Amino acid sequence: MAADGRAQPLHEWEFDRRDLRPDDVAVSIDFCGVCHTDLHAWHAEPSTAAPFPLVPGHEFVGTVAEVGSAVTDFAVGDKVAVGNIVDSCRVCQMCTAGHEQLCVEFPTLTYGGADRRDGSLTYGGYSTEYVVTEAFVYHLPDGLDPAGVAPLMCAGITVWEPLAQWNIGPGATVGVVGLGGLGHLAVKFARALGADVHLFTTSPAKAEVARALGATGVVVSTDADQMADARNRFDFILDTVPVAHDISSHLAAVRPGGTVCQVGALDAVTFEPMALLGRSVAMAGSGGRPGTRQMLDFCAQHNITADVEVLPAAAVNDAFARLERNDVRFRFSLDMTTMR
Ligand SMILES: NC(=O)c1ccc[n+]([C@@H]2O[C@H](COP(=O)([O-])OP(=O)(O)OC[C@H]3O[C@@H](n4cnc5c(N)ncnc54)[C@H](OP(=O)(O)O)[C@@H]3O)[C@@H](O)[C@H]2O)c1
Ligand SMILES: [Zn+2]
Ligand SMILES: [Zn+2]
Repeated sequence: MAADGRAQPLHEWEFDRRDLRPDDVAVSIDFCGVCHTDLHAWHAEPSTAAPFPLVPGHEFVGTVAEVGSAVTDFAVGDKVAVGNIVDSCRVCQMCTAGHEQLCVEFPTLTYGGADRRDGSLTYGGYSTEYVVTEAFVYHLPDGLDPAGVAPLMCAGITVWEPLAQWNIGPGATVGVVGLGGLGHLAVKFARALGADVHLFTTSPAKAEVARALGATGVVVSTDADQMADARNRFDFILDTVPVAHDISSHLAAVRPGGTVCQVGALDAVTFEPMALLGRSVAMAGSGGRPGTRQMLDFCAQHNITADVEVLPAAAVNDAFARLERNDVRFRFSLDMTTMR
């Protein structure tokens, strides 16, 4: 499913994937999640502009259809998952430390990136097949619903990394801002890690489901009294809001020494300088290979997947429209088998 230009409807488009190189795996895609980043890219906001035609999709699961001659970790028929990064230099300090998302040469993204060997443009997972080096393919954990695993590969790892990096666990009081694709997984993860987790939301109607997902409290962020009551209560706040916004009130909600971590907005995030005293702001992006494997193991162990609404691939335009108006609980997962 491709868009020919900025905010143009997506339509079926036929193109060829590259012939398999020795280390490549061809994946027949079963499900692909719809990430808010796809919507940003489709709107072609400058920070995420990808060339057109644009085939979005960077969190998918599927079945290995073919393997290159040098592939060792995968066999035809294996169930696999792929995320937002399909290659990196693999030799820089960041790559060798397992932080491929910070590769000094910039990682190759699943769509809108340039292949490191032939320079060709990458097209994403809203498609029936993907060809990718085995180094960036992950085994699908047994026993988890594949449609709900797809969103773990972007939304999941993006919130997993900061929770792991800040050692979130028993005794920590965590706030998650925004109950969407990233946010609902952050609530599930923080709870399963043993933290006391609270949701900051603009949607009071989500309070009940937030509690069902594991939140012990809900703060309606548009209510000044509730925000005032939240002051100095949190060790760590993870903000997933997808638009430009001011985070001063979230900084006030963390205890001295606490951190507000931004993973959502691609546009300007602002704050009053005074709000920063004794607190810090951190920015994080989706994670590397070791973190992704660790997250998938954790999800298998705790039976965690995204809450998904499965739609046929052809409904992607409807999915975009609903995502834009905050009408999703909590991730669309496109059934790509409907296009075969
Ligand atoms: N750093 C990274 O590597 C990375 C990776 C993936 C995604 N992202 C970015 O993370 C952001 C969230 O992605 P997502 O897929 O989770 O999006 P999503 O499913 O649309 O969820 C975003 C949530 O933010 C809240 N929200 C929406 N519009 C808002 C507004 N105008 N003001 C305040 N709150 C608003 C809503 O929660 P409530 O209804 O509860 O308020 C919404 O459910 C996007 O900008 C995406 O591009 C970053
Ligand atoms: Zn994403
Ligand atoms: Zn590198």
